[in-house]
Amino acid sequence: MAHYLAMGSIPPKRHTQHRRPASGEAPGELYYEELMGEEGFSSDSSLLYHRNIPSTTIASAVWELPDQSTTPNHPLVPRHLKLHDLFDAAAVAGTDVVTGRRLVLGNGDVRISYVVAGAPSPWYRNGIGDECVYVERGRARVETVFGAFEVAEGDYVVIPRATTHRWIPEPSDTDPLRAYCIEANSHIAPPKRYLSKYGQLLEHAPYCERDLRQPDGPLLAEHVGESPDAQTDVLIKHRGNGPGGVVGTVHTLPFHPLDVVGWDGCLYPYVFNVRDFEPITGRIHQPPPVHQVFEGWNFVICNFVPRKVDYHPLAIPVPYYHSNVDSDEIMFYVDGDYEARKGSGIGRGSVSVHPGGHPHGPQPGATEGSIGVEGFDELAVMVDTFRPLELGEGGRAVDDGRYAMSWSRGAAGSGGAHSEG
Ligand SMILES: [Fe+2]
Repeated sequence: MAHYLAMGSIPPKRHTQHRRPASGEAPGELYYEELMGEEGFSSDSSLLYHRNIPSTTIASAVWELPDQSTTPNHPLVPRHLKLHDLFDAAAVAGTDVVTGRRLVLGNGDVRISYVVAGAPSPWYRNGIGDECVYVERGRARVETVFGAFEVAEGDYVVIPRATTHRWIPEPSDTDPLRAYCIEANSHIAPPKRYLSKYGQLLEHAPYCERDLRQPDGPLLAEHVGESPDAQTDVLIKHRGNGPGGVVGTVHTLPFHPLDVVGWDGCLYPYVFNVRDFEPITGRIHQPPPVHQVFEGWNFVICNFVPRKVDYHPLAIPVPYYHSNVDSDEIMFYVDGDYEARKGSGIGRGSVSVHPGGHPHGPQPGATEGSIGVEGFDELAVMVDTFRPLELGEGGRAVDDGRYAMSWSRGAAGSGGAHSEG
């Protein structure tokens, strides 16, 4: 982020002495300055002031990750994955956002997983890349070394690589926390075309800095009712020789990780709610890039929000058939009036996989049916990748197995209906 923030106690000059309050005649003990910087000191960074030496560990062990194996989409078919079938209600109370994620799709650039969680997560950091966690339903508190967020339905929680944090769901029997987790092997940021040469969001962007929520920091152990001296395990996801090049390690700290008394800089987690995305519409059909909200290396994140649709007198509001020549297209259907497309098979919690090399578009009849429609009341999150995605164990478990036939007039199978994507 270009947007500079400063929170808590920091010295007037960087890289100079910053001490705890003096006790008697003796000067206070120094705080420990840590620079978190991207791209080898050549991109955004922040300076954090810790009570403890941030490198300290007293033990390390293997963290056995959930199944990270993937299976190629071969023979090539479009797919319908029913994420809401992944978790039994009885298991939710014991599932957390970090260790309970089930891998739906993945490649060398990005992994998409899903979790329904009722338990607090362990402390965690992703050493591989940034995470963008979309909150489909429910509420949670996300505590990070930069500060905390209260998050709820529609929030994108963007957490930079190596940020130590944890997820604490708000208990609910009826509306548990549902999280769609997009893990990059790179950084996740607003699209470059929406940024000025100095990094400010421009006037034609569908959102601006005012829409981004900042961490509520600083956040120390005693602020969350815990001891600063509490020995703590931190789970680290990092590169290695496991499936997908991903492995896990647990580091034990002899203190609580919430020990940052202040920080400043342009690198920090933030939250953006999908309802603050201002849709870009036109007289004729607008292409999917107008729906883009973030980008990472070799993938983009788009969202389709409730909006007025194309208003040319002869407009066709649903998209033309399209071959995503260079990408796989993954649509997560969050909300909307899918009753209007009964029989399609697509509904809340569905994911459609439209792979590169295969054209896709509206189901039979949907094009004619859309003429004259003035608005779409739907909400979907899309990830387009420029390398093929493979199916994770979660994706394989809830593949409906019939979607590929849904464009065949008169043939058995579910539909291929979605107004976008
Ligand atoms: Fe599409």
